[in-house]
Amino acid sequence: MPKFIYLFVLLILYLCLQAFVRSDAQLTEFRSIDCGAASSYEDAELGLKWETDDNYTKSGITRKMEGQDLPKQLYSYRYFTSRRNKHCYVLPVTTDTTYLLRVRLFPGSGGSSSIDLPVEFNATFNNNLFFSYSAVTDTDRVDVTYESLFHSFEREEIYLCLLPGSKGTPFINSVELRGLPDTSYFVTRNPGEVPQFMVLGDRLNMGPKPGGNSFFRYPDDDFDRFWQPAVPPRFPSFARIDESSFIENLTLFTYTPASGADDGYNWPPNRTVIDAWVGPQLAFTIPRSRVDTDKLYASFYIAEIRPEVNITEDFSYAVDDTSYSYSIGDRGAHTIWFNEVVLKDPKIIHVNVSSSSVDGVILNGFEYYHLYDFDISATYSIDEKALDGLQESFGLQDWQGDPCFPVAWDWLTCDTEASRIQKLKLSHMNLSGPIPENISNLVELTEIYLDNNSLEGSIPESLASLPKLQILALDDNKLTGEIPPGLQNRRGFTFTGNPGLIGAGSGATAQAPGSQPSPKSAAVRTIRETDILLLGMVLWASLFLQVSI
Ligand SMILES: *[C@@H]1O[C@H](CO)[C@@H](O)[C@H](O)[C@H]1NC(C)=O
Ligand SMILES: *[C@@H]1O[C@H](CO)[C@@H](O)[C@H](O)[C@H]1NC(C)=O
Ligand SMILES: *[C@@H]1O[C@H](CO)[C@@H](O)[C@H](O)[C@H]1NC(C)=O
Ligand SMILES: *[C@@H]1O[C@H](CO)[C@@H](O)[C@H](O)[C@H]1NC(C)=O
Ligand SMILES: *[C@@H]1O[C@H](CO)[C@@H](O)[C@H](O)[C@H]1NC(C)=O
Ligand SMILES: *[C@@H]1O[C@H](CO)[C@@H](O)[C@H](O)[C@H]1NC(C)=O
Ligand SMILES: *[C@@H]1O[C@H](CO)[C@@H](O)[C@H](O)[C@H]1NC(C)=O
Ligand SMILES: *[C@@H]1O[C@H](CO)[C@@H](O)[C@H](O)[C@H]1NC(C)=O
Ligand SMILES: *[C@@H]1O[C@H](CO)[C@@H](O)[C@H](O)[C@H]1NC(C)=O
Repeated sequence: MPKFIYLFVLLILYLCLQAFVRSDAQLTEFRSIDCGAASSYEDAELGLKWETDDNYTKSGITRKMEGQDLPKQLYSYRYFTSRRNKHCYVLPVTTDTTYLLRVRLFPGSGGSSSIDLPVEFNATFNNNLFFSYSAVTDTDRVDVTYESLFHSFEREEIYLCLLPGSKGTPFINSVELRGLPDTSYFVTRNPGEVPQFMVLGDRLNMGPKPGGNSFFRYPDDDFDRFWQPAVPPRFPSFARIDESSFIENLTLFTYTPASGADDGYNWPPNRTVIDAWVGPQLAFTIPRSRVDTDKLYASFYIAEIRPEVNITEDFSYAVDDTSYSYSIGDRGAHTIWFNEVVLKDPKIIHVNVSSSSVDGVILNGFEYYHLYDFDISATYSIDEKALDGLQESFGLQDWQGDPCFPVAWDWLTCDTEASRIQKLKLSHMNLSGPIPENISNLVELTEIYLDNNSLEGSIPESLASLPKLQILALDDNKLTGEIPPGLQNRRGFTFTGNPGLIGAGSGATAQAPGSQPSPKSAAVRTIRETDILLLGMVLWASLFLQVSI
């Protein structure tokens, strides 16, 4: 009997939880991070829940600015004054999901809590360049938005990192992650091919109502894409059609998570579909925002609702020299997309939609993205785990992101070909406590510098098992006990300045970092050759793994 009650209570709880989950208006996973905000809050206008960034990054300083013209998220930021190769956010993602990642930056309008200019830095996610930011003069004191689409595959985390340039301190105002429907922007998955990610060039809503605030996002767009109005003077003035009068005959895109398979239509929101440009020829140009790739993904959103139009007639869609003819076949809203357009002009993209019919074609919206191969390089997982342990013992957890990519943490040197850790450069880092055993799991280490810290306890014997170790600098610490026999009398292994340490070598002179190791003996050379063989096997294995992933 009591068991039965338990089950009943559990069932009720489950149903409550379900109801709670369902009451959430967002159809897919949304993560909205207001960097530098003091506490989480709900955005009354948009109905979005904003979190602070405390759970996502462990370094940097937060600051608030005065102002109210822009969205609230833009008036707080996190900035990074410490000179490090990179400053990272760790963003949890669900495996096998397509995401929109958006970063917004606003250096402030020049008041005392604004970011000092000039400033330049790059942002990466994993080992890929997301954007390069540069603000030089006061005219650059505007808010900018960067968006990327990528597929998570087997990943459970994404590392968003800021890499300082030669000027100023990197900063960030907001980070947003939006899960997208399974088959939208299908090019990010490319089954059987190299995965690609895309960086947004432009996302346009054609024919918005004249006047008024015609930019829109969530809740008008279920997936919170930013839609910009395509209006003069940036675009030609085409005839406008308001389709709301046809609404009864217009099938709009309504995404229901349970619907399962869909047609990869990218789900344009109703507000994009409802108004449009119309004409026999709609030609315009857009400045190209990136030049580091020639590959582009383009998506046209069109509709046909007019009873008099012959829908078997050919309509033509062109981006530069790539064109596509299409007869709609049925009345309603449609998406036409080009996976890979190869651009020729380094500055401008030519877009042209046309129809031989006098009634012309209806264009609701247009998007284009720059396409890049998704570089999946990451530190070898055993090395990364060992570093986790080392960071924990030494209190170095504020070093986040991938240890080696896109640049190594300042205190590491990596073999980027093999994705392995080669050197630990932890001199003068104010480290205390014992030397963690985990170091011995970094089997590719050739050099360890731990000198000039406050390390205590005895030296782990396991260090002697590191096969490639040539330099071990443990000078000027508070180490005690006997130097493990395997570490004694080895050239390049130094232990001076540890009064409590006993054993041969405790008084040896430190070898200057960077100097050549001892002349090669026959034994050393044999080890080297097997190493090269091993390295080759590891490379081959990792290549095989990457291909099979
Ligand atoms: C951080 O995450 C934990 C666990 O999910 C949550 O309880 C906590 O409220 C979060 N903190 C902030 C500042 O968002
Ligand atoms: C930033 O990216 C550009 C390429 O857009 C590159 O030339 C530059 O070296 C990068 N700078 C840093 C600090 O990573
Ligand atoms: C909707 O379609 C029906 C049937 O084709 C047609 O009779 C009607 O005029 C259409 N309504 C509008 C507003 O176009
Ligand atoms: C879009 O229109 C459809 C059909 O009218 C409707 O069911 C759906 O709720 C609308 N979606 C949004 C986000 O307004
Ligand atoms: C519609 O267009 C197709 C292709 O141009 C043509 O074969 C057909 O006769 C047209 N139908 C009507 C009713 O005009
Ligand atoms: C647009 O395409 C049509 C049909 O292919 C062509 O006649 C016209 O010259 C093109 N216009 C521009 C500006 O490229
Ligand atoms: C690191 O080593 C310590 C023992 O020295 C162990 O307790 C810990 O679990 C290890 N951590 C990892 C991540 O391997
Ligand atoms: C060194 O670490 C100790 C605690 O381990 C701390 O009290 C001290 O402030 C640190 N010194 C520096 C310069 O970071
Ligand atoms: C440790 O620091 C002291 C003082 O900064 C310096 O004289 C000494 O050479 C350093 N030791 C090593 C091994 O770098």
